[in-house]
Amino acid sequence: MTQKIIIDTDPGQDDAVAILLALASPELEVLGITAVAGNVPLALTERNARMICELAKRPDIPVFAGCAEPLKRKLVTAENVHGKSGLDGPDLPLPTMPLQDHHAVDFIIETLRQEPVNSVILCPLGPLTNIASALMRAPEIAGRIQQIVLMGGAYFEVGNITPAAEFNIYVDPEAAEIVLKSGVPIVMMPLDVTHQALTTRRRIDAFCAIGRPVADVVAELTGFFERHDMQKYGSEGAPLHDPCVIAFLLQPELFQGRHVNVEVETTSALTLGMTVADWWRVTDRKANATFIGSLDADGFYRLLTERIARL
Ligand code: RIB
Ligand code: CA
Repeated sequence: MTQKIIIDTDPGQDDAVAILLALASPELEVLGITAVAGNVPLALTERNARMICELAKRPDIPVFAGCAEPLKRKLVTAENVHGKSGLDGPDLPLPTMPLQDHHAVDFIIETLRQEPVNSVILCPLGPLTNIASALMRAPEIAGRIQQIVLMGGAYFEVGNITPAAEFNIYVDPEAAEIVLKSGVPIVMMPLDVTHQALTTRRRIDAFCAIGRPVADVVAELTGFFERHDMQKYGSEGAPLHDPCVIAFLLQPELFQGRHVNVEVETTSALTLGMTVADWWRVTDRKANATFIGSLDADGFYRLLTERIARL
């Protein structure tokens, strides 16, 4: 039985690898891809999402444009990490497949209303603006979502866009608060775990050794992506954030976490967007998310490499 998912994304090299992993995995049925502004503006994230679908020879996947701005704040982007296009690294052709004319938020709402209850998993890989907008516009969908498996947040690993906050949450903290308080079952892939999934030279070489065009593009995407983070962290490789979400759907046993309370800062200028995980359960705040703290990194890259080789 395939698992139906919607990928909400702001491609982004790591988003692109996550989309390719999903499209390479027969366990998953990608009902649609909804683009959101984040790493780069919406006009680029929706274009990049279509480019990746065509790279995977999947022009049948409907791609929708969603929110161009966060709910209440000015958009913050990350060209310094992803390059001006958001997909710097490989030289990919512009898309020929059309963008759907439905708004992404309408697609999310209508799909959840039409599909059987608890049959769809939402996979946000960027700021949560589209997801929060759908929940605000149609609150009843909260009871129809099987779960939300998202990349975002940080606790022990602290922030990457500010000392306190991870980028996806920082861009739209009000949206993150709506999602965290929605009552929908949530699995969070924070920097705590994604920083253990580094694109080391050996792992990128394994992509190159596949000797197929899509795998070569994955090597170029991860190779570009790592130059910024290696300089910043002095690590051997960059954290490959977003594919952790898809890998969790395929092999959850690769990941370990705790079901705890997670809340987000939406007012303090100093810690805006910080996700406060009650990891040691020192409060009586209700647990609302499975906060993932570690993974089997070699197992993750074995899975990723084996699947990318299928494209
Ligand atoms: O902080 C990492 C997250 O921000 C990833 O989803 C990356 O693609 C960017 O969106
Ligand atoms: Ca992303």
